[in-house]
Amino acid sequence: MKSILITGGAGFIGSHTCLLLLEKGYIIFIVDSFINSSDQSIERISTILKKQGINIEGRIYLIKGDLKKKCDIEKVFEMSFTLQKNIECVIHFAGLKSVFDSVRKPINYWENNVNGTINLLKVMEKYNCRNIVFSSSATVYKINTSEPVGENDPCQPVNPYGNTKLAIEKFLNDLYKSQPNSWRIACLRYFNPVGAHESGLLGECPLNRPNNLYPRITRVAIGKIDKIKIFGLDWPTRDGTCIRDYIHVMDIAEGHLLTLDHLLKEKSQFLTLNLGTGKGTSVIELIRKFEKVNNVKIPFSFDKRRIGDSPFVVADNSLAMSILNWTPKKNIDDACRDGWNWQLKNPNGF
Ligand code: NAD
Ligand code: UD1
Repeated sequence: MKSILITGGAGFIGSHTCLLLLEKGYIIFIVDSFINSSDQSIERISTILKKQGINIEGRIYLIKGDLKKKCDIEKVFEMSFTLQKNIECVIHFAGLKSVFDSVRKPINYWENNVNGTINLLKVMEKYNCRNIVFSSSATVYKINTSEPVGENDPCQPVNPYGNTKLAIEKFLNDLYKSQPNSWRIACLRYFNPVGAHESGLLGECPLNRPNNLYPRITRVAIGKIDKIKIFGLDWPTRDGTCIRDYIHVMDIAEGHLLTLDHLLKEKSQFLTLNLGTGKGTSVIELIRKFEKVNNVKIPFSFDKRRIGDSPFVVADNSLAMSILNWTPKKNIDDACRDGWNWQLKNPNGF
């Protein structure tokens, strides 16, 4: 079976993807610095698979390492060679992702996200591994107002976090063009990943106070935050609040599996794909949906608009659907139910 390196595999999206990879029989090497996660997520993956009767002996290797240090990455590739389980492809989740922090600490963001990726690609090239799936974001797109956004629409991030994502996409494209017929690269632009694994054993567990709407809603529901402050009621949308494309994390994880299959069986290529549902939900709609599905109360009030927000960010997901034969299977009700189940069972995280 193929060996895959997962950078940032202990994090939110990485851990759900690792679970699916192990279910499908892959051997996985995970490198994570745990700057925004803990190794407990990996323990939980083992627990879930054990319950399913899936044996993962000799198929999961967890290495604490920081992509800012090239030697940490080399160690992982060396290990895979020694074990004769050579890494064939990298799924590159590792990165810092808070827009707010990135504005205050751009050096950290450029160093971690961009230098970390350059180190990774140097080592991959050295070890003759030229297949990579990169976690990009809808945040790379130019702010638009009312239409679903397609992969060829203009890009113009408005914060340092988004700039690092677009810079990495460009770097990967330069690399692809520099060596024709060599690299297989996919940049996956996620929209708003939410929800959790249906077991309630795995979910989003940021180490710091979350800034994003969905984890704030679950924290209000559990009583850790008083209420949601809705950023703006005067947007040009159906109820005056911003519309986003919330996608269940398991659908995102499955998108990675299909991308991996596709890349490894096709010739050299550079792919950019949106991973979203194509459906928009407003802030008020999401709160109401969460309340209804889970029979809980989510108090909210209105605040001024947040700088850098866009009224409408929804994916045109037709390219991913046709190239990968992928369809999001879960809806917003599933995401609300699974995220609450996770939060209820783990009020303090892992
Ligand atoms: P996360 O913070 O839960 O996971 C990222 C993981 O990377 C963490 O485990 C962290 O410890 C690790 N990491 C960070 N820097 C590292 C480094 N230098 N070396 C080793 N490990 C490092 O975030 P997530 O939500 O799982 O996001 C995964 C990726 O997807 C990120 O690159 C993020 O920018 C991107 N993304 C996320 C979202 C979202 O809403 N969650 C949306 C679009 C894109
Ligand atoms: C944010 C980031 C984006 C990143 C994405 C996933 C910004 C401007 N954008 O996207 O770059 O890729 O997270 O990590 O930060 N909201 C409230 N109250 C809250 C929190 C959010 O009303 O307490 C609203 C926001 O105004 C927005 C919506 O909820 O309209 C979703 O916000 P959020 O979850 O932060 O995601 P994005 O803004 O889509």
